[in-house]
Amino acid sequence: MQWSLYLLILMGQCCFFTCRLYEYHFIAENKSWSEAQRYCREKYTDLAKVFDMTDMSRLRNSTQNQGEAWIGLNNNTGGNRTWHWSLPGVEYIQNDSSWNLNGRQNWEPYPGNCGRKREKLADVSCEYPMWFICYDEMKKDNKRLYFIQDTKLNWTQAQSYCRYNYTDLASGLDQVDGKEMKALIKSKDSKFSAWIGLFRDSWRWSDGSDFSFRYWDMQLFNDEQSNKTCAMTLLNRSGKWSSDECDKEKPFFCYDDKLILIKENKTWEEALNYCENNYKRLVSITNPEVQRWVQETAKNADSPYVWIGLSYKCTLGLWLWGSDYVVCYEKWATEGKTEGCDMSVGVDRGGQHEWFSRRNNETYNFICSKQ
Ligand SMILES: *[C@@H]1O[C@H](CO)[C@@H](O)[C@H](O)[C@H]1NC(C)=O
Ligand SMILES: *[C@@H]1O[C@H](CO)[C@@H](O)[C@H](O)[C@H]1NC(C)=O
Ligand SMILES: *[C@@H]1O[C@H](CO)[C@@H](O)[C@H](O)[C@H]1NC(C)=O
Ligand SMILES: *[C@@H]1O[C@H](CO)[C@@H](O)[C@H](O)[C@H]1NC(C)=O
Ligand SMILES: *[C@@H]1O[C@H](CO)[C@@H](O)[C@H](O)[C@H]1NC(C)=O
Ligand SMILES: *[C@@H]1O[C@H](CO)[C@@H](O)[C@H](O)[C@H]1NC(C)=O
Ligand SMILES: *[C@@H]1O[C@H](CO)[C@@H](O)[C@H](O)[C@H]1NC(C)=O
Ligand SMILES: *[C@@H]1O[C@H](CO)[C@@H](O)[C@H](O)[C@H]1NC(C)=O
Ligand SMILES: *[C@@H]1O[C@H](CO)[C@@H](O)[C@H](O)[C@H]1NC(C)=O
Ligand SMILES: *[C@@H]1O[C@H](CO)[C@@H](O)[C@H](O)[C@H]1NC(C)=O
Ligand SMILES: *[C@@H]1O[C@H](CO)[C@@H](O)[C@H](O)[C@H]1NC(C)=O
Repeated sequence: MQWSLYLLILMGQCCFFTCRLYEYHFIAENKSWSEAQRYCREKYTDLAKVFDMTDMSRLRNSTQNQGEAWIGLNNNTGGNRTWHWSLPGVEYIQNDSSWNLNGRQNWEPYPGNCGRKREKLADVSCEYPMWFICYDEMKKDNKRLYFIQDTKLNWTQAQSYCRYNYTDLASGLDQVDGKEMKALIKSKDSKFSAWIGLFRDSWRWSDGSDFSFRYWDMQLFNDEQSNKTCAMTLLNRSGKWSSDECDKEKPFFCYDDKLILIKENKTWEEALNYCENNYKRLVSITNPEVQRWVQETAKNADSPYVWIGLSYKCTLGLWLWGSDYVVCYEKWATEGKTEGCDMSVGVDRGGQHEWFSRRNNETYNFICSKQ
C-alpha cells in the first residue's frame, strides 16, 4: 500500500497528456468552401479552426504545399460584428459599466471596430495611431501591464508590437478594469487614450466556436464589403490569411477533435466503459489547455454536468484519473469537492465550468478521449 501510493504520486508529478487536442489534415483536392466544409464534417470534425500562433504553426507543418487553402472562417453573417479580445482564450462578455461612448474626445475618429481605454472603453477607428497597453504573462519586474508611449501606432501595429515584445495587447475586463490598470492610469495625464486588445469583426468559425485569433495578411486583405467572404491561408506567405470568393475551388484543411461529447446519460461507470470500448478513455484533465477544451465541449451538453475520468478511490483515500494517475491540475468549484466512496467528478455545463463531486449513480453526458 505504502509502495503503490509512492508510485502513484511519482507518476502524478508530470502531465503525461500532450497538449494536442485536435489534429489538422491537409486535403489536396480542389473544392469550393462549402464542399470542403461538407467533406470535413463527414470525414473529420469540421473545417480547420485556429486558436493561436502555435496552432498556426501546426497547421502549416501539416503540409508541404505552398499554395492557398481554405480554413473554416467565413463572413456570412450579414455584417453582424461581435467584439473579441485579442489574447486567445479570453472570452468577451459585455459589461455596460466598462463602456462610455459619450466619453470619446472630439478628436477621436469614431465609430470604429477597435477598442481604446481612457477611464472607460470606447470604439474608435483602428487606423488611428495611439499609445497602447501591452500585457505580459511572464510578470517580469512583478508587473503585467506596460503602457507604451514612446511611439504611437495603429491598432494592428500595436498588436504586433505587444505580441512580439510581450504577450499581447491588454485583454479581458480583469486586465482592463483591474487594480493594476487603475494604478497605471492614475499615474498618467488624464488626457491619454490607449489601445487595448479589443476589436470587432463579422467573421465566424465554421464549427461555431468563438476563437478570436486572426492572422490576416494586411497587404492583401481588406475587410471591406466584397464578395470575398471565405478565408484562406497563403502557405507561401508564412500562412497568413486572406479572403476569396467561396465558390473558387481550392485545397483545404480539416481538423479532427480528440475529445468527443457523448450526448447520452450514463452513470460514471457506464460512461467509463463506453469510452474504453469505443474510444480510448474517459477524458483526463491534466493541464489548463485540456480544461479549456473540455469547457468548450461541455457547453454543448444537454445534462447539467458532464462526467470526466476523475473519481474518488476509497481504498487509497485519493482522487485518481482512471485508476492510475493522481491529480496534477485541478479546477474544483468552491465547496464542489466532497470525498466519498461513491463520488466522481462532473464538469458544470454552465457558469465557470468548474468541477463538482457527484454521486456515481447519477446519469450525465460525458466526454471521451480518442488518445
Ligand atoms: C487544383 O487546382 C490548381 C489550380 O487550378 C491545379 O494547379 C492543381 O493541380 C489542382 N489540384 C488537384 C489535386 O486537382
Ligand atoms: C513546425 O516545424 C518547425 C520547423 O520544422 C518547428 O521548428 C516547429 O516547432 C513546428 N511547430 C510545431 C507547433 O510543431
Ligand atoms: C504565392 O502563391 C501565389 C499563388 O497561390 C502566387 O501568385 C504568388 O506569386 C506566390 N508568392 C510567392 C512569394 O511565392
Ligand atoms: C464582411 O461582411 C461585412 C458585412 O457584409 C462587411 O462589412 C465586411 O466588409 C465584409 N468583409 C469582407 C472581407 O468581405
Ligand atoms: C449577431 O451575432 C451574435 C453572436 O454570434 C448573436 O448572438 C446575435 O443574435 C446576432 N445578431 C443578429 C442581429 O443577427
Ligand atoms: C460589470 O462590472 C461591474 C464593475 O466591475 C461589476 O460590479 C458587475 O458585476 C459586472 N456585471 C456583469 C454582468 O458582469
Ligand atoms: C496600420 O499601419 C500599417 C503600416 O502603415 C498599414 O499597413 C495597416 O493597413 C494599418 N492598419 C490599419 C488597421 O489601419
Ligand atoms: C519591440 O520593441 C522595440 C522597442 O523596445 C521596437 O523597436 C520593436 O519595433 C518592437 N517589435 C515589434 C515587432 O513591434
Ligand atoms: C465578385 O466580384 C468580382 C469583382 O467585382 C466579379 O468579377 C466576380 O464575378 C464576382 N463573383 C461573384 C461570384 O459574384
Ligand atoms: C439527459 O438528462 C437531461 C436532464 O438531466 C435531459 O434534459 C436530457 O434530455 C437527457 N438526454 C438524453 C439523451 O436522454
Ligand atoms: C444513488 O445512490 C444513493 C446512495 O446509495 C441513493 O440514495 C440514491 O437514491 C441513488 N440515486 C440514483 C439516481 O439512483
